[in-house]
Amino acid sequence: MTARPNLTSTSQVLILTGAGVSAESGVPTFRGVNGLWEGRRVEEVASPEGFDADPQLVWRFYSLRRDGAAKVNPNPGHEAIARLEGALGERLLLVTQNVDGLHARAGSTRVMCLHGELFKTRCERCNVPFADTRTYFDGVPRCSTCDNRLRPHIVWFGELLSSAHLRQVDDFIERAGRELIFFAIGTSGQVYPAAGFVDAARHAGGQCWLVDVDPPAEYARRFDHVVKGRSGEVLPALFGV
Ligand SMILES: NC(=O)c1ccc[n+]([C@@H]2O[C@H](COP(=O)([O-])OP(=O)(O)OC[C@H]3O[C@@H](n4cnc5c(N)ncnc54)[C@H](O)[C@@H]3O)[C@@H](O)[C@H]2O)c1
Ligand SMILES: [Zn+2]
Repeated sequence: MTARPNLTSTSQVLILTGAGVSAESGVPTFRGVNGLWEGRRVEEVASPEGFDADPQLVWRFYSLRRDGAAKVNPNPGHEAIARLEGALGERLLLVTQNVDGLHARAGSTRVMCLHGELFKTRCERCNVPFADTRTYFDGVPRCSTCDNRLRPHIVWFGELLSSAHLRQVDDFIERAGRELIFFAIGTSGQVYPAAGFVDAARHAGGQCWLVDVDPPAEYARRFDHVVKGRSGEVLPALFGV
């Protein structure tokens, strides 16, 4: 390994992870499956329009993903991130675009799940997410309070991210200023607003690192340092944990 980030006792670390971090656990990335599921575009099963058109199909898709995620385990990449949190405490903010729950299972305690959580469900009307590991292969589950449809607690295509989450990220970047070290790990930088965090981090004077097995050129050129490699192999040494 050539370059290493200069982590000091005043560094503030923002980590953004994407599907690549879970690839070594056996969770497929979107690009890896060409964005298709059973020959359908993922947007068809991961959008409000898709849910209105065929809620049972959408629940079957998410039930399969729940099944898949329940069978895999965190990998050394998730574990290195959890150990870095152990060392830095509040000076680290982990923001993930993954919905698989693997960061928490690796021991990360403060995880911002920007795109929702696979193992949570919420009523379309009551809107309160609750932990739910069940699978629904037949029919569409209903709310025990108001009998409206239950839906996966996932931010679908065309839906807005939580403004409170985005404000928290902005605040962290602003407060950290030149003490900021930003890592984007295993994310292709195609999905906004997460793809724009690197620009905000650079603007604030932070140091930006990209870790990716196959760094997408468009995204990579916005970083100060690009580390090419699998996150499970690269992160323990990169973080020195
Ligand atoms: N695990 C999950 O929860 C999961 C899985 C698939 C998709 N998604 C969703 O899909 C969207 C896709 O965006 P994205 O940027 O996260 O994923 P993406 O599929 O667009 O990009 C994944 C990136 O990871 C890289 N990569 C693959 N294996 C790697 C490894 N072992 N180590 C390091 N890098 C590796 C790829 O080169 C690619 O650049 C997100 O919105 C996310 O919510 C989530
Ligand atoms: Zn309800």
